[in-house]
Amino acid sequence: MKIHQYREVESTQQIAKQLIDNNIDQQHVIVAESQTGGRGRLERTWISPKGGLYFSIILKINQMLPIISGVVIVNCFKKMGINALIKWPNDIFVNKKKIAGVLIETYKGLAIVGIGINVKSAPLDTSISLWDMGFNMSSDRVLNNLLADFKEILVYPRKKLLAQYRKWCITLDKIVKVQIADNIVEGYAVNIDDDGGLLVEKKDNKVIKVMAGDCIHTF
Ligand code: BTN
Repeated sequence: MKIHQYREVESTQQIAKQLIDNNIDQQHVIVAESQTGGRGRLERTWISPKGGLYFSIILKINQMLPIISGVVIVNCFKKMGINALIKWPNDIFVNKKKIAGVLIETYKGLAIVGIGINVKSAPLDTSISLWDMGFNMSSDRVLNNLLADFKEILVYPRKKLLAQYRKWCITLDKIVKVQIADNIVEGYAVNIDDDGGLLVEKKDNKVIKVMAGDCIHTF
């Protein structure tokens, strides 16, 4: 993969879009030391001071990318000895605190997978960093490890990928609240479907499938 390194940008997602406008193809990575307008899922802000890892990878569109990204990050952390887990769809938690997040967008027929990792510090009370946990690694090293894992896991057979995801997903077997259009639906998270959707069984025993959005549950 070709890496494009920046000091400060508004958002690496936006740079990725500019590069795509200039006909860049998949397998390019945009990484920045800080972002002035870092973006999270569901129109949230991703606070991005120096000391974190912020990057976007341009890839071929693949329905499983949310699942792949979660597995890549947890797999990489596990190899470092960190017990990370996934909150559906792909928020990464350690000790009940968020350590990494993923935002996936599509643009002109390509996917842009944006990943933010708290490396040296955690911006919120509800977040934690690698350094907080005693892993004094550089962002460059974390990035190289993650890219190597991406190469490997992108070609996993779907069965193997889902088995890993289900093993590490803390949302399963929990009572969850999910937003469907304007309604909040409560139910039991029974499984992750073969295409990555969350299956929620409601009180009336009907099972609904949620493909995107957020879910709320206790840890
Ligand atoms: C989330 O948990 O809501 C997703 C956070 C994604 C943040 C990353 S940092 C690199 C890329 N650029 C952005 O503006 N956002 C993503």
